[in-house]
Amino acid sequence: MADLIDLRSDTVTRPTAAMRQAMAGAEVGDDVYGEDRTVNALEAEVAAMFGHEAALFCPSGSMANQIALQLLVPPGAELLCDADAHVVTYEMGAAAAYGGVTSRTWPPVGAELDADVVAAMVRPDGYWAVPTRAIAVEQTHNRGGGGVIPLDTLRELRRIADAGQLALHCDGARIWHAHVADGVPLASYGALFDTLSVCLSKGLGAPVGSLVVGSADRIGRGRVIRKRMGGGMRQAGILAAAGRYALAHHIDRLADDHAKAARLAEAIAPFGVLATTVRTNIVPLDLTKAPLDAPTLAAAARAEGVLISVLGPRTARLVTHLDVTDTQIDQAATTLTHILRR
Ligand SMILES: Cc1ncc(COP(=O)(O)O)c(C=O)c1O
Repeated sequence: MADLIDLRSDTVTRPTAAMRQAMAGAEVGDDVYGEDRTVNALEAEVAAMFGHEAALFCPSGSMANQIALQLLVPPGAELLCDADAHVVTYEMGAAAAYGGVTSRTWPPVGAELDADVVAAMVRPDGYWAVPTRAIAVEQTHNRGGGGVIPLDTLRELRRIADAGQLALHCDGARIWHAHVADGVPLASYGALFDTLSVCLSKGLGAPVGSLVVGSADRIGRGRVIRKRMGGGMRQAGILAAAGRYALAHHIDRLADDHAKAARLAEAIAPFGVLATTVRTNIVPLDLTKAPLDAPTLAAAARAEGVLISVLGPRTARLVTHLDVTDTQIDQAATTLTHILRR
């Protein structure tokens, strides 16, 4: 949608000319045979960034999450996560459908997570209750408005996981944004989790691709699960090359996306929209006190060339990314404030 200002998601980005060049020149082989050198290089690179032994290239973040969950939670056992987590909201029940995993959720709090609440939910092994085997968190938290879970909270969760012999998974689709916003090294995040899923196709701007990160043993078993789920790709180096390019060139620039989101939030806030806690590239709109509901705002914005996401009757979302310029941000702010003022 070339003429529109598309703020629905950071997944809408298209590969840049330089990224396409890297893709065109990629050395490739059959990755199911383990012979694609570009995929192998990407997997080694990402594992090293997070201080883990291995990583597995997957077609999507959803598949990366679901492989991790199947590795951590046996059928009939449970996963704890936020009620708004991507793994229980947007992955079509995959944990239950493919992994036989029961999910139990804490009330949706985004990044404002209270580790004591999680600790109180843990159910130990025993014949009378479904045993908890893993806790999953989302960094940054998508439906939580791009919030960043503080490192201290994550350390506390690690302590709870160790005490209960549980695994800890991070849905790190946008962990790059947390790293840039809080200055926490990726390896410090890596050290706290048994598995992480990380996406190249969100803020980093690659067209396709996510990885599961973990121990060599887990990733070896994950490779089998990926094949079972139909995620074994062949000359995937074409895609891995885009990811390698994105890692080299598109992490530091996320600070620009965060600044753009803050500008949008500031412009919109006076019109009865609560968008005050913007930390990264997501601007959550709480329209409870606004004159319009979310579908009406989205339709009016679309008519004027600005696309936004509707998350609920009175909640919406704007996301900044590589393909929106400063000028477009100003135009979008003008359009949205104009509609909200009506
Ligand atoms: C937090 C989070 N996790 C996982 C995913 C899944 O990624 P994919 O769309 O590649 O399956 C998304 C997608 O937007 C996401 O926002």
